[in-house]
Amino acid sequence: MRMRQRNACLTGLCAILVVLLALVISAAPPSVQAQGQGQAQGAAPPPPPAPFLPGQTAGQYYKNVTVLKDIPAADLIPAMQYIRSALGADCEYCHATDRSSDEKEAKKTARMMMSMVLKINADNFKGGNNVECFSCHQGSTNVATAPPVPELGMKPAVLLMAEPKPAEGLPTADQLVSKYMQAIGGNISSLTTRTAKGTVEAGQNKNPYEQTFKAPNKSYIVTHGQQGDAVQGFDGTTVWQQNPRAVQEVVGVAALNPKRLADFYRTLDLKKSYSAFRRVTKDKVGDKDVYMALAQAADGSGNERLYFDANSGLLVRVVQRTPTAFGPNPTQYDFSDYRDAGGVKVPFEVRVAGPNNIAFWHFTDIKFNAPVNDSIFAKPSSPSKAAAN
Ligand code: HEC
Ligand code: HEC
Repeated sequence: MRMRQRNACLTGLCAILVVLLALVISAAPPSVQAQGQGQAQGAAPPPPPAPFLPGQTAGQYYKNVTVLKDIPAADLIPAMQYIRSALGADCEYCHATDRSSDEKEAKKTARMMMSMVLKINADNFKGGNNVECFSCHQGSTNVATAPPVPELGMKPAVLLMAEPKPAEGLPTADQLVSKYMQAIGGNISSLTTRTAKGTVEAGQNKNPYEQTFKAPNKSYIVTHGQQGDAVQGFDGTTVWQQNPRAVQEVVGVAALNPKRLADFYRTLDLKKSYSAFRRVTKDKVGDKDVYMALAQAADGSGNERLYFDANSGLLVRVVQRTPTAFGPNPTQYDFSDYRDAGGVKVPFEVRVAGPNNIAFWHFTDIKFNAPVNDSIFAKPSSPSKAAAN
């Protein structure tokens, strides 16, 4: 029952987000997204894993999956990535080299925990995702059972609770949206393409980088890596990745983020992109005062948190979540250095981060309405060119 609900969610509308794709592509050596393994750097690359067949479940694709056997095969690794960050434990904490082996005690405990979590939610929360690994683990393999004692110089929580809160008049979500759209300016509906050039920085690597988008939802993103080009594309139907070794369709929840990114008007026309706003709260991003609006994406991909600069009205942060078999994997975009790109202001600096990844897009040139060749968006039939050495 519970698993059926999860599957409906995972294979259906819930699908879109993971900067991971952008990151996998932009980070280190171009490698098509590893379906089965998080590979050790420096080791000889294993052959690309067999592609998932349509409708294939994790139980059919993998050797030793029991609790998660009914979820789509493509969605097992996103669930593992969630568990890794929820426990702050890398894959090897639970897995031997052969990931199907149960030789590590932690893996057996984790499997038991998975059943426990499914049961807690089924018995108490109508099978929702209310209690997940992170609820108890909070980024650690240890689970705290006692409330923390304040450090020297800090006030105990009970005293902080008693302090009067300043009364604050919060703007409405409508006001935030209007102020933002005024701040970026431009005749948004006349915009149809967006081409951006710059570099992508992830870890030690800084590579030339290009993004091409076409309304309403096509994308073509190239990282010119040391070993060749890594490309991610979306033609409105299929998300794909290409590098010098392989071309591959991206399926399951891993396709969510590339689709969100390709959504041309997502951050340009907030009135269209979000169907409802739940609440507005006051918050901080760095030392900036911001307003956070919880917004429901119009494409059905779930709630997003939009953070608006309290002074300029510009969007400084968007947090999106990709559902997994357990809790969600968050992706956070931080926007800065807004500049005019032909009538409309857009951020030239973007930081894209997940629990385990950070990348920076440094743009030098962003243009709207430059002519774009439509054929680039379709999935290519052969791998990209390796770099000439
Ligand atoms: C906290 C423990 C834990 C961590 C951390 C973890 N896994 Fe798992 N993994 C499991 C368990 C438990 C299963 C089996 C689930 C089941 O039986 O439904 C599993 C199954 C798998 C399988 C299927 C293997 C097969 O053929 O049967 C793969 C592949 C996998 N994990 C990859 C990963 C990767 C990659 C990471 C790191 C991103 C990771 N895991 C992190 C506990 C963990
Ligand atoms: C209701 C709270 C709760 C939830 C939810 C929960 N855990 Fe745990 N987990 C615990 C507690 C408590 C322990 C410590 C048990 C002990 O001390 O023997 C633990 C221990 C573990 C351990 C062993 C850590 C070690 O010492 O090596 C693993 C692995 C683990 N949990 C994985 C998970 C995974 C994966 C999930 C989500 C599917 C999860 N847990 C969800 C409470 C929870």
